[in-house]
Amino acid sequence: MPSVTGKITWTKKDLLGLEYLSKEEIELILYTAESFKEVTTRRIKKVPALRGKTVVNLFYEPSTRPRTSFELAAKRLSADVVNIEIEASSVKKGETLIDTGRNIEALKIDIIVVRHNCSGAPNILARSVKSSVVNAGDGWHEHPTQALLDMFTLKSKLGRLEGLNVSIIGDIAHSRVARSNIWGLTKLGAKVTVCAPKMLIPEGIEKMGVKVTSDINEALSGADAINVLRMQFERDTDGAFPTRMEYFKQYGITKERLAGCKPDIVVMHPGPINRGIEMSSDVADGKNSVILEQVTNGIAVRMAVLYLVGLVKEGAR
Ligand code: CP
Repeated sequence: MPSVTGKITWTKKDLLGLEYLSKEEIELILYTAESFKEVTTRRIKKVPALRGKTVVNLFYEPSTRPRTSFELAAKRLSADVVNIEIEASSVKKGETLIDTGRNIEALKIDIIVVRHNCSGAPNILARSVKSSVVNAGDGWHEHPTQALLDMFTLKSKLGRLEGLNVSIIGDIAHSRVARSNIWGLTKLGAKVTVCAPKMLIPEGIEKMGVKVTSDINEALSGADAINVLRMQFERDTDGAFPTRMEYFKQYGITKERLAGCKPDIVVMHPGPINRGIEMSSDVADGKNSVILEQVTNGIAVRMAVLYLVGLVKEGAR
């Protein structure tokens, strides 16, 4: 399994966000994921690439998709996997993130996959340990593997990313998925529009190279793909619009709205879906939806990330 595209070799100990990666490094991850996608279709879905390495899942926030697929990805690379249950851990006795990380490192762990409610927590951890750190979502900051699997899925469907019109619709303000997608898609040459009620658009977001609108019809017109974000009610978004029903009326993706779009528009959502709020069920389960393909592709993409950071030579740490 190569870690070289012909242009570059992977040298980074950690994956903290797409902001910190070059176009070539993102392409290398997507290229490596292509090979691992093939592995996931075999009868025996396992390769010995990370045999002898150990991966820890350290999730301070709930998760279904990333947590399960990081575990599957590590197992399919023949790594040993440990899942730390935060509720049953010494975090509940007040142990800090850095102390937790250093103690995990003392157990000779190679890769720590961390999800945290605080933006920047994986960066702090990565500076404190020699183990590789992979960000599985931190606060409102980044969710790099989600954006990588979104891009991988989009490229699989439409054959390219460069020049595509991609609209990200929903709670942009609280969304680490939006930020990572914007970094990744713009680096790879896609044209990104973000669309939300004004209260859910962070000030200055246009400096990231995106078009900004609160008009759903403008966001849908000419889009090759839409990435519809979850309303993060746990982060107090209810005040941003009068009622949830009002949000669905103004921004919800429905069959009627899709009827005015490109016929082969790709509909994505990172999950979990609030059905009847961000989109109707007939769209979520309809012919344009690739939502479950995104989940499947998450395994190959996370295999690629674990493989690349896992093979960085000790000297780079
Ligand atoms: N897409 C995502 O990160 O979802 P969960 O962690 O809620 O499964």
